[in-house]
Amino acid sequence: MLRSARHPAAYIKEEGANPTGSFKARGLALAVTMARHYGFRKLAVPSAGNAAGALAAYAAAAGIEAHIFMPKDVPFANYVEAVAYGARVTLVDGLISDCGRMVAERSKSEGWFDISTLKEPFRVEGKKTMGYELVEQLGWEYPDAVFYPTGGGVGLIGMWKAFAELEELGWVRPGKRPRMIAVQSAGCAPVAKAFEQGAKASEMWENAATFASGLRVPKPYGDAIMLEILRESGGVALGIPDDKILDSLRDWAKNEGLFLSPEGAAATAAYDRLLESGFLKPSDRVVLFNTGSGLKYTDVTAEAMGLQLPRS
Ligand SMILES: Cc1ncc(COP(=O)(O)O)c(C=O)c1O
Repeated sequence: MLRSARHPAAYIKEEGANPTGSFKARGLALAVTMARHYGFRKLAVPSAGNAAGALAAYAAAAGIEAHIFMPKDVPFANYVEAVAYGARVTLVDGLISDCGRMVAERSKSEGWFDISTLKEPFRVEGKKTMGYELVEQLGWEYPDAVFYPTGGGVGLIGMWKAFAELEELGWVRPGKRPRMIAVQSAGCAPVAKAFEQGAKASEMWENAATFASGLRVPKPYGDAIMLEILRESGGVALGIPDDKILDSLRDWAKNEGLFLSPEGAAATAAYDRLLESGFLKPSDRVVLFNTGSGLKYTDVTAEAMGLQLPRS
């Protein structure tokens, strides 16, 4: 947990130092451990990128086969790591929703266990540790708000569960639970749209496009649970345009020395927006999740910045 140099009440929860460079390691470390415990030999996953790397790494360590389906335009690092870990990788001309369909269709005939988001119980259990940690690192107190870059929403659901458990254990000082802020890209914002419309569930987002690849989930499976949590917590869901995400990425790199992932920069941009609108005060204690290392995105971030190495 890093305190912002410019916003004394804001903390970045830096997830880039996890094995495989993103928070996806938390869920998949546990899910693969349990899959091995139950004797599964072949795991399959649709992934926006980072879950693929995490599954591939833990599967390799456990001696289990990993079958990965991901969009063909994922950040290059996600493809390279999955191949290097020995996973069977299929690059799909489509979105994570198309990948999910392929896994579901083939799992039975291929003998794969489908380890998709929220279709088995342990990824959410692994991700909930983010909730324990942020409370522990704030001296066993809740912050006022938590900004979570939201695709499938597993971390948001997991943290809410962690808060309930901390209360039951008596490990958190009595106080109001944080407002949960679901941050999406304006290029794929099904949860933000459903939240604005007061809907109970989201609708499939057509032509989803954003350089924050982890947020490109056009119809999250756990949308109804997320929307309930956002409302219960007094939070909100926002869609941030990619140009604002890039501005915030550059701003935090230059002024704070942090090279955020595009998903993390969506959270910092959302924080700026909610300070401007008065939804939050500068004195409100907030946790902003940088869900992955900026270094996993050098190709997509360079493209967004218009950067290229000179070729001789
Ligand atoms: C870096 C990053 N941030 C955020 C997300 C969204 O996570 P979730 O699906 O748990 O909402 C992803 C998913 O791939 C990701 O890789």
